[in-house]
Amino acid sequence: MSEQDLAGWNALEALARPSLKDLFGDSERLARYSTELELPGGPIRFDWSKTHLSPDVERVLGEIAGTMDLAGKREQLFAGARINNTEGRAAEHAAQRGVGSDASVEEAGALHARMRALVDAIHAGVLGEVKSLIHIGIGGSALGPALAIDALARESALVDVHVVSNIDGCALEAAMAACDPAATLIAVASKTFTTTETMTNAASALEWLRDGGVDDPYGRVVALTAAPEKAVEWGVDETRVLPFSETVGGRYSLWSSIGFPVALALGTQAFGEFLEGAAAIDRHFIEAPLDKNVIVRAAFADLYYTQARGCQTRAVFAYDERLRLLPDYLQQLEMESNGKRVTADGQPLARPSAPVTWGGVGTDAQHAVFQLLHQGTHLIPVDFLAVKVPGHDLDPAHHRILLSNCFAQGAALMAGKASDDGARAYPGDRPSATIFCDDLNPATLGALIAFHEHRTFVSAMLLGINPFDQFGVELGKAIAKQIESGGGEGFDPSTEALLAAAGIGE
Ligand code: F6P
Repeated sequence: MSEQDLAGWNALEALARPSLKDLFGDSERLARYSTELELPGGPIRFDWSKTHLSPDVERVLGEIAGTMDLAGKREQLFAGARINNTEGRAAEHAAQRGVGSDASVEEAGALHARMRALVDAIHAGVLGEVKSLIHIGIGGSALGPALAIDALARESALVDVHVVSNIDGCALEAAMAACDPAATLIAVASKTFTTTETMTNAASALEWLRDGGVDDPYGRVVALTAAPEKAVEWGVDETRVLPFSETVGGRYSLWSSIGFPVALALGTQAFGEFLEGAAAIDRHFIEAPLDKNVIVRAAFADLYYTQARGCQTRAVFAYDERLRLLPDYLQQLEMESNGKRVTADGQPLARPSAPVTWGGVGTDAQHAVFQLLHQGTHLIPVDFLAVKVPGHDLDPAHHRILLSNCFAQGAALMAGKASDDGARAYPGDRPSATIFCDDLNPATLGALIAFHEHRTFVSAMLLGINPFDQFGVELGKAIAKQIESGGGEGFDPSTEALLAAAGIGE
């Protein structure tokens, strides 16, 4: 299915490497690499001018994109072809927001209508008083809801949502301590409805409801899943099972009924705006020519750094407290999608795959990890994200200082500073990109997430890998289950000793 364009990557490595300062010698550079898109949530500026992208880099990556048939793969993605070849499935997250094959868009629309009806009924009091929702899920069934609610529902939540993912009971205990069982719903979010952490937490949450005097705990549960029959079998009434399609991957599922807590907290209209913001990015990805396509441009820069400059990590810093969970979300999206060692047809990958995605929130990170970005020996491309309109009503000085710091970091990384004293010298020529939103609202967040989804897809297509499976997570799960069921024997001496020390399997 996927050849690898080794000659193309060699050509990329062989290109001359002008510095950022030299690249800015071109007076057209800012106009060429900084693009403002008019989007439903307001404009977003994608400024890639402080990266080492150049017409030469773009030409070679454009050739690789041609060899790897990026345009054809993009068409297949949106047409609902079985692009997830190792699992024999399509990847139809965009259909959830109305961009895809007619049949899939129609199906998603019907499932959204079902979700909206339940959310509206809950808001109308059909399930009695609902002050809180404990949303139980993990990975893609938790990170998206957690991000969206933290970003958008800080003050205005219609229902107080607590997202619980970890099997460590401390997580569920903290959520339960903040809720009244008589006024709490439980959402069990799991594509497969088999994930150990989620099912264990869900069982304990039911127990808590029962202990708290709720006569029919299952009557307080909503299931969000692509395996509705399993949810019904587990005990959830069919009317409170919100299904989504098998063709929506876990880390791409926030747009589906996994977004139920977002709709419950923000209202169904806001959820619709969230989808619309993402759909606008889908359309840009499909329609904009390669050299004006902000998604392709970002992926080209990512590939340039991993493939030609040996970068093993890329960092993302949200200069907005409301987006503090975005780096976590992107870690799963990028590392679970593109952290692969073989191509889609199973051949060993001859090139590095995804970099490690990491990051944090500004300005906190400046006082903790930026030393290494400025003067360490690693070259680490950085993304900065910031928002023009602040999310608070305090003195505007807060936001002015926040944004000044964000832009100062990008400038400092690029410019550096000479000094005779080595410890005080900054080499500069360190790349960064800046995403600057006018406002943070549901549509903007939808656009930001969809931008990253497609950016990840483009990288995968040029490398020839399948970004939609995740077999790498299975081995550890299987061994844990084996140990849990008492069958874990014959491990290495270290593991045996740790199990014995914990008193497991005795
Ligand atoms: O183990 C990894 C994974 O399968 C992720 O891909 C997924 O988002 C997460 O677990 C949760 O899976 P589920 O939604 O089926 O519970």
